[in-house]
Amino acid sequence: QQELILSPSLLASDFSNLAGELSALEEAGLTWVHWDVMDGSFVPNITFGPPIIAGCRKKSRLFFDVHLMIEEPDRYLEDFVRAGADLLCVHAEACRHLERTLSEIARLGARPAVALNPHTPLEILEYVLPRLDMVLIMSVNPGFGGQKFIPFSMEKIRRLKSMIAARDCKTLIQVDGGVTPENTGELVQCGADVLVSGSAFFAHPPYRERLKTFINAARD
Ligand code: DX5
Ligand code: ZN
Repeated sequence: QQELILSPSLLASDFSNLAGELSALEEAGLTWVHWDVMDGSFVPNITFGPPIIAGCRKKSRLFFDVHLMIEEPDRYLEDFVRAGADLLCVHAEACRHLERTLSEIARLGARPAVALNPHTPLEILEYVLPRLDMVLIMSVNPGFGGQKFIPFSMEKIRRLKSMIAARDCKTLIQVDGGVTPENTGELVQCGADVLVSGSAFFAHPPYRERLKTFINAARD
């Protein structure tokens, strides 16, 4: 069993000081960072796009985990890979030809991942699972930080874990939305490999201590 990966969501960070936040995360021992890209159409909120990520790429060695909450992501895959995304996660609900989109991400040189909204059944992944580096289970409706974890997500994670085990593939399970040290233990029990945390992480500095709190919670 691999140790838990925590991917802090910059959505809850200080946007006026992204470079400072990124170096603070790196110094605190984090290895991943989660970028929530929102287009005001797929979700009712707008954040940032490739130029901001590209600017920050020059200042950080962290693994850039990029969550695209945008319509027709095919239009921008190349821009995000060029900007420095290590992993690109598209929403199944936003892709008409999901398999094509995933192949394109891999061809561009990033790791392909798929996010599922809370209501989207796991069955949509049946044929693409072996070619995915990660599946993101949304445990809130995307668009905003600081929402409450939707309880049925636990069962969904457990089911996904057994789908992955049955196919003997290495796909990671990421959980995003309402993650806290309080539900971390159960999430890891259910099969989560990567946890995203926005508000429950950034509101509690110092980051090194907060990371430790999550890691310890994962072991309980
Ligand atoms: C929601 C985003 C999440 C969110 C997590 O649309 O995808 O990454 O920022 O924030 P918290 O941890 O506050 O729920
Ligand atoms: Zn996210």
